[in-house]
Amino acid sequence: MAEAHEILHPLIQHKLTSMRSTATGTGAFRALLSEVSMLLAYEVTRDLPTTVTRINTPLTAMDAPSLDETRIVLVSILRAGNGLLDGMLRILPEASVGHVGLYRDPKTLKAIEYYFKMPRDMPHRDAVVLDPMLATGNSGIAAVRKVKETAPRSVRFVCLLAAPEGIAAMNEAHPDVRIFTAKIDDHLNEKGYIVPGLGDAGDRMFGTV
Ligand code: URA
Repeated sequence: MAEAHEILHPLIQHKLTSMRSTATGTGAFRALLSEVSMLLAYEVTRDLPTTVTRINTPLTAMDAPSLDETRIVLVSILRAGNGLLDGMLRILPEASVGHVGLYRDPKTLKAIEYYFKMPRDMPHRDAVVLDPMLATGNSGIAAVRKVKETAPRSVRFVCLLAAPEGIAAMNEAHPDVRIFTAKIDDHLNEKGYIVPGLGDAGDRMFGTV
């Protein structure tokens, strides 16, 4: 049984509907993706630990919780992962950013790595790996494998749409990695596209269709 945390909030589903539609152009698509990623950030950070600090409000001193954003590393799987970065960074402006460069071999659909850059001190950080589309899972699985080599404290995976096939593959390869998605779609087609999906997320956000 494929396992992923599907965030079925009406705001997210409403924006996702616009993103799926062929009537939505590049600028609107990018803006919507940025908004949805802010909403996803809310859910993916839900169980991160907070620490209590002594502060003064205008009325009194109090012990108040804070999240150490500098411990979070957002990892974008290039290039489409960058579409989720902007909104996440608006919510977590002090988070660090790592990049994994992967492309899908169009014949084998296997992930080929061409770039990898992460911040130092990974064992003190919680990694959130970003890719809008969890399709076959090949890129996500390869990216998570690379990220794990840096020994982060935890790894989460965030996508906009997930195919059941990709979730099952990720669950099998990395059972410890929780997947957060706005929607689990029906299936993959023979070319590895998510159906009903939204097409090629990179092309939609960068106007390279
Ligand atoms: N990547 C995309 O951008 N879209 C899909 O449907 C599958 C993989």
